[in-house]
Amino acid sequence: MLQTVPAPPPPDVRPTDPAMLAIRGLHAAYGQSEVLHGLDIAVAPGEIVAVMGRNGMGKSTLMKTLMGILPATFGTIAVDGHDVTGLKSHARVARGLAYVPQGRMIFSTMTVQENIETGLTVTGARRVPEDLYAMFPVLLEMKGRRGGNLSGGQQQQLAIARALASRPKVLLLDEPTEGIQPSIIREMGRTLKAIRDARGLSIVVSEQVLSFALDVADRVLVIENGAIVHESPRADIDEAQVARFLSV
Ligand SMILES: Nc1ncnc2c1ncn2[C@@H]1O[C@H](COP(=O)(O)OP(=O)(O)OP(=O)(O)O)[C@@H](O)[C@H]1O
Ligand SMILES: [Mg+2]
Repeated sequence: MLQTVPAPPPPDVRPTDPAMLAIRGLHAAYGQSEVLHGLDIAVAPGEIVAVMGRNGMGKSTLMKTLMGILPATFGTIAVDGHDVTGLKSHARVARGLAYVPQGRMIFSTMTVQENIETGLTVTGARRVPEDLYAMFPVLLEMKGRRGGNLSGGQQQQLAIARALASRPKVLLLDEPTEGIQPSIIREMGRTLKAIRDARGLSIVVSEQVLSFALDVADRVLVIENGAIVHESPRADIDEAQVARFLSV
């Protein structure tokens, strides 16, 4: 009698790792000078992780390596179960990574709307979706204005909106509070949590401002000289200990 054999599972298209972002044994270097010395970080779906560290500790290098701006020398990076380590930046964006660089890097002579449109490329959409403007009403008001004429806080919102335009699964923000006044920093914290709640995406944010990290993050990591030296869930954090890592 013929037995029906169950169909094999489809090829590896399903996530093999419950982490939305899985970083394993990541090393990166500028020429001969190694800056990241083997990082292991797993970020759960919907989780906000803050990577804290003083100047020059490797925060931006980590972000650049995740985005493929700097190649990893060893280790792997996976997004939603897909290895992206060998991919170019645009292909990583298509896989669900988005990036708000340190210093925001908006296009100052382009309008607000044009800036956001540059983030749409991988989605195939031509127009800025309404929900992005709903998230950042000030950008709707200013959509015809040149990016360079916005305040620092408004430019940061623009950089976040541009990153969200690609519908990421993982949003990376490199020191978003840098050069931004305290009241706006608090508002940014609320915005990031609202985005996470609305979209269910994972967020990795590098920071030196402890109060902001405590406000937004579910988990706090400390990076020192290119290695993770401390890790704590928000609920159990020893603030004084983390503050000591950040003091010079
Ligand atoms: N383009 C580069 N070429 C060579 N070395 C670099 C380059 N960019 C950064 N570095 C070095 O890599 C190390 C980590 O720098 P990185 O920019 O990642 O630090 P950071 O934590 O982002 O600091 P900050 O808080 O000041 O932005 C530093 O020693 C820095 O001097
Ligand atoms: Mg930096």
